[in-house]
Amino acid sequence: MKHLRLSIIGFGNVGQGLAELLSTKRDELRQKFDLDVALVGVANARSGFIYRQDGLDIPVLLELATTRRPLTVHPGITHWQNTLEGLRATGGDVLAEATPTNLRDGEPGMSHIRMALSQGMHVVTANKGPVALAASELFALARQNDVQLRVESTVMAGTPVISTIREGMAGADVHALCGILNGTTNYILSAMAAGRDYAEALADAQAQGYAETDSTADVEGYDAVAKTLILSALVFDRSLKPEQVVRHGITTITKEQMQQASEQNKRIKLVASLRLLSSNDGKEAALEARVEPLALPLNDSLARVDGVLNALTIQTDTLSEVTIIGPGAGRLQTGQGLLADIVACAQIGG
Ligand SMILES: NC(=O)c1ccc[n+]([C@@H]2O[C@H](COP(=O)([O-])OP(=O)(O)OC[C@H]3O[C@@H](n4cnc5c(N)ncnc54)[C@H](OP(=O)(O)O)[C@@H]3O)[C@@H](O)[C@H]2O)c1
Repeated sequence: MKHLRLSIIGFGNVGQGLAELLSTKRDELRQKFDLDVALVGVANARSGFIYRQDGLDIPVLLELATTRRPLTVHPGITHWQNTLEGLRATGGDVLAEATPTNLRDGEPGMSHIRMALSQGMHVVTANKGPVALAASELFALARQNDVQLRVESTVMAGTPVISTIREGMAGADVHALCGILNGTTNYILSAMAAGRDYAEALADAQAQGYAETDSTADVEGYDAVAKTLILSALVFDRSLKPEQVVRHGITTITKEQMQQASEQNKRIKLVASLRLLSSNDGKEAALEARVEPLALPLNDSLARVDGVLNALTIQTDTLSEVTIIGPGAGRLQTGQGLLADIVACAQIGG
């Protein structure tokens, strides 16, 4: 039996979703993967970092988090108010990083990930900021320390796009990716296609809990840009800066434009795309990166992806076109991506 000592930093929706899966799937992990994962450290902003060498009690942690009580109430723990200090003092085999995405400097996740990799821990993360801003630095740090950095749940949550491309499609030449990578805007555009106007559709998305009160990151396309940067680094090995992605949000799309598209048998979607442009002069092909609303013909697989679903079409030399459709958010859906990455760390990481 392989034993892994795991810490989760960021114990909100996603961190708790992962903890729940570790608890409900404990026997399955043992039977199918010969893997025992002990959750030894957990941190959130309010309580700081708590640690218990023999493992924390997941149902107790989930109860404390749900009732918004301090995690420090958990019996038998050691506590650091500063998360980084706790992580530095305790180490372990794997860090699951799930603090909020910050696209300005990636913090606080950037420091957590750097610290964990530097001290020889594998890292799995759902946090888009550090990977979008510093993928090449962080992957180099992982290689230097002979550990893995896995980021499946940063794009389309637990729907396996990154592992499918990097591992399942190993050897294929990917020349373009086109996707619906933001569920909130897809929900709004789907509602508008059904006849609602933008303001109504946004209010509905907020009422359903799909859109934040401040929906700027979604509707202006920044969230999709972050995922485009991650795919650019992981699939094309190109580190782009946010300003190198052409970005148009959906805030100016009108009901009339939606109707017009519908009359032409098209659907307007917020499409994130990465495309290698052919080069004739022997130089490396340029990579075009865009996030923009596009009117797609109904025979495009992305045109029929509605509501909060996400999708990614991968164009390659050997497989022609492959489209993956699935959830792009949600507590257990994102926790699933982290869980799969933890299992992969155990299997590949030695
Ligand atoms: N939710 C999804 O469906 C989804 C899908 C894909 C990717 N993601 C990404 O996953 C990450 C987590 O999302 P979420 O929905 O779980 O967010 P969330 O519910 O807001 O949880 C964030 C957690 O991070 C904690 N935190 C903030 N600063 C911290 C610090 N310095 N040290 C320790 N903990 C800190 C917060 O503490 P408090 O509880 O004390 O505030 C909270 O527990 C984000 O980067 C998000 O973009 C989310």
